Amino acid sequence: MQSATPRLEIRNLVRNYDGRRVVDDVSLKVMPGQVTCLLGPSGCGKSTTLRMIAGVEMQDSGEIWVDGNLVCDTSFRIPPERRHIGLMFQDFALFPHLTVRANVAFGLSGDKADIQRRVDELLERVGLSSYGGKYPHELSGGEQQRVALARALAPRPSIMLMDEPFSGLDNRLRDGIRDETLDILREQDTAVLLVTHEPEEAMRMADEIALMRNGRIVQQGAPYNIYNAPVDRDAVAFFSDINVIRGKVQGALVHTAFGRFLTPGVQEGSEVDIVIRPQHIKIDFDRNGRGPDPTIEMGTAARGVVRRARFMGSESLVEFRMDHDGSIMRATVPNVFLPKPGKPLWLMIRRDKCFTFPVRA
Ligand SMILES: Nc1ncnc2c1ncn2[C@@H]1O[C@H](COP(=O)(O)OP(=O)(O)OP(=O)(O)O)[C@@H](O)[C@H]1O
Ligand SMILES: [Mg+2]
Repeated sequence: MQSATPRLEIRNLVRNYDGRRVVDDVSLKVMPGQVTCLLGPSGCGKSTTLRMIAGVEMQDSGEIWVDGNLVCDTSFRIPPERRHIGLMFQDFALFPHLTVRANVAFGLSGDKADIQRRVDELLERVGLSSYGGKYPHELSGGEQQRVALARALAPRPSIMLMDEPFSGLDNRLRDGIRDETLDILREQDTAVLLVTHEPEEAMRMADEIALMRNGRIVQQGAPYNIYNAPVDRDAVAFFSDINVIRGKVQGALVHTAFGRFLTPGVQEGSEVDIVIRPQHIKIDFDRNGRGPDPTIEMGTAARGVVRRARFMGSESLVEFRMDHDGSIMRATVPNVFLPKPGKPLWLMIRRDKCFTFPVRA
């Protein structure tokens, strides 16, 4: 069972630069052996948050706690080197005058044979066993990054802060190194706070995602919940392409070319966006100008004309221009489905998969 005390907790962190608030009241907890991803677009304040936790930058207000002990607030501060926090930053730097082995061994102390064993183990796990005697300048960027990763993991930190640690690696290598790194961190029960701007990476790695925007955490939860119960239109759009249908609420319903949508709890007369991901649009054939019959699950079909269709590997992406308003809609279909441009088809929207959000003024 997990202990109730978070390994890492930050409370109400705030940081301003030149009068602009770049981290705005950020709070979160990470339990031992858990991975939390700070996910958000470039410039939203992810790295700044991590730097404050690491102690290389001071917050304007807020608190940082480790294992139930205060580490830093605005009047008290334990220096970075005494926080037992491992760091793997965007701008990692290896020691150029040290070999790969010496770089990985750098933070280790104690028995020499133990250190050798730990270094060997880590080099093997990051796939660099035969590189121990080389110097950083003899390595590719991706190889250097893996050395930095091994170096950060070596002392078995109880908290690991990682800022886009896999960004320099090609896809195939990245998947392997990612999984290996997570295994190592979980084995040692480390609490991990990982920063990324890539939703796929967050979904793949995180036990919990904290979605960040303009310095604030806008939603926090398990990947499944963030993906399936997003707080707003931007939260949906951050994870996938979206289609948006705008309408006005009349009698707790919105009437659209795709039929009616229920809008419980939304104020009468207000505008709403109905947001639907491309994989949740159903495509049906044209029957001499007629579409399929309406159903409760799918509503009414609306007709569109294919603009282009692209094969993407595991799915096909089809783009339509809709007859009723000339808008563009995108649908994805598993495997190969490549209708010719100009072909009329009918689109339906899965009611259980669409999201309705009031339009913000
Ligand atoms: N030392 C600084 N002085 C002034 N502004 C800064 C400083 N460091 C960061 N900023 C600004 O603060 C904002 C947040 O920066 P931060 O590095 O935390 O973003 P990020 O979410 O990590 O983005 P990215 O995904 O691009 O790395 C940015 O607008 C950035 O320009
Ligand atoms: Mg950053």
